[in-house]
Amino acid sequence: MVEIKQQHYSELAQQIEAIIACEQDLVANMANISAILYWALDNVNWAGFYLIKDEQLVLGPFHGQPACIRIPIGKGVCGMAVSENTIQMIDDVHQFSGHIACDAASNSEIVLPIRKDNQIIAVLDIDSSDIARFDHADKLGLSQIVDILQTTFTTQKNSKIGELFSETYN
Ligand code: SME
Repeated sequence: MVEIKQQHYSELAQQIEAIIACEQDLVANMANISAILYWALDNVNWAGFYLIKDEQLVLGPFHGQPACIRIPIGKGVCGMAVSENTIQMIDDVHQFSGHIACDAASNSEIVLPIRKDNQIIAVLDIDSSDIARFDHADKLGLSQIVDILQTTFTTQKNSKIGELFSETYN
């Protein structure tokens, strides 16, 4: 089972690498990554990104039900991933104090920080209606995908974090 999951993530990583390799636009790349993860992962009801702007998390590209737009750092699972500077893997969001419910169907969640120059600039958030949907293999597989996205930052001509996002959004 773990090997099957690893193989699946490895194929997804290859697909994502191929799609974003030639594109410099972060929002466009996040849009494609969220679509790929939403459609490729079993029992996922939301997959997307929140971007740090003005010291809060603001909704970015996603697939799933409409979601809350702004999350303060330290609040909810997403805000906790930023304030704790670590991946949050929550088996039952109803047991997580301060969980922000966007889709009532969500029961478990994983949130991964995305960094540029060691500073968190966004998070990848994935929700499932299954309890304990995410395990160590998901954590590793999704970390691999976040790494691929992060490597695009080093090759981008824009060096300022704000310039990674379209100016329209700043
Ligand atoms: N549940 C998240 C909010 C975002 S939605 O899941 C899309 C949280 O607690 O931060």
